[in-house]
Amino acid sequence: MNEFLVFEGVTKRYGDFYAVRDVTFEVRQGEIFALLGPSGCGKTTLLRMLAGFIEPDAGRILVDGKDVTGIPPDKRPVNTVFQSYALFPHLTIRDNIGFGLKMARRGKAEIAAEVDRMLDLVDLVEHADKKPDQISGGQKQRVAIARALVNKPRVLLLDEPLAALDLKLRQRLLVELDEIHDEVGITFLYVTHDQTEAMAISDRIGVMNRGRVAQIGAPAEIYESPVDSFVAAFIGDTNFLEGRVIERLGDEYSLVAIEAMGEIRVYNDREISPGDEIHLSLRPEKLSIQTSAPAATDEARNAIEGTVEDVIYLGALTRYWVRTGERRLAVERQHSRFLLDEKPPTWGDKVWVRWRADDGYLLRDFAPEHAEMLSLPAETE
Ligand SMILES: Nc1ncnc2c1ncn2[C@@H]1O[C@H](COP(=O)(O)OP(=O)(O)O)[C@@H](O)[C@H]1O
Ligand SMILES: [Mg+2]
Repeated sequence: MNEFLVFEGVTKRYGDFYAVRDVTFEVRQGEIFALLGPSGCGKTTLLRMLAGFIEPDAGRILVDGKDVTGIPPDKRPVNTVFQSYALFPHLTIRDNIGFGLKMARRGKAEIAAEVDRMLDLVDLVEHADKKPDQISGGQKQRVAIARALVNKPRVLLLDEPLAALDLKLRQRLLVELDEIHDEVGITFLYVTHDQTEAMAISDRIGVMNRGRVAQIGAPAEIYESPVDSFVAAFIGDTNFLEGRVIERLGDEYSLVAIEAMGEIRVYNDREISPGDEIHLSLRPEKLSIQTSAPAATDEARNAIEGTVEDVIYLGALTRYWVRTGERRLAVERQHSRFLLDEKPPTWGDKVWVRWRADDGYLLRDFAPEHAEMLSLPAETE
């Protein structure tokens, strides 16, 4: 009922190479939906098919129930904001924003009113009469957004719109984009390779890998319950543990032997039986580290003994690498208190790493190559 934008079995090939392969998903009216994936995974190709610059080899795309196949780009109810702002250097900001309306031969008074509304929306009223080279990169991108929105598209397509800007400015523009979205209320399809950007701005995310959509869900769902090792490694960092189920411990937990490490308890996210090979994703911030032996443990918790092998101080948190058996675990400790007076664990300390069994997540699929996407290797030598 809410399916406003529909991609149905969409495929695009270049020779034998599938840039987009049998992609099916829907975007709801008014939401910010992010297409997230590494460079080359097919994000721009999908956007260009929706915008009408290229046509799919198979499948179809519907906007508000209407198949847009064959409709020329300028007749589709979408507008695109690119990473390169593509502003006209010789035109003022005002004329850049009004350009589309002028081409559509709208009246002078109407154009002036619409452009004023847009200048106000993107907070550029004082810069209206400047040329693009007299304003900053962030302001240029706001012009590009205004220029797309002035045509009143039903969907705004944003292709890596912030990629050319530095971190602080990117964060600020994300907040502004969110506010603009609240104000105009239309659907945003936001393409990015940056997971923090996608997390921060979207209602839902479609994670792409090699031309396919690997998982669709709300940001927290994608982060907490990644379906496979690609999604788990691409979104944030994690520890991958490989093991075999020894026995079930009641309905909720199972005892699992982890290769080169020891026995742990695992929450039965999926139906697993003794003998099954499993792969677990365990986010570093879910683990805690302490130098004293834990008092008592219960069946819902794990405590593994190890040695601190590396300490990386990151300001807001410290990342520890703890050796347990023949492998290492990444553990993150948040500095929620001023801790110069405390004695945090350090190199060579004997420690206990603890976590709740239900904070690990059983993956549906695992490929060893995805372990190489993590920021640091889990295994040494
Ligand atoms: N016109 C083209 N001819 C051949 N290959 C292309 C063409 N356009 C895109 N590709 C390939 O398709 C894949 C997906 O490209 P693209 O959609 O631009 O990826 P993304 O935007 O996710 O970085 C890439 O491997 C790219 O090299
Ligand atoms: Mg791209």
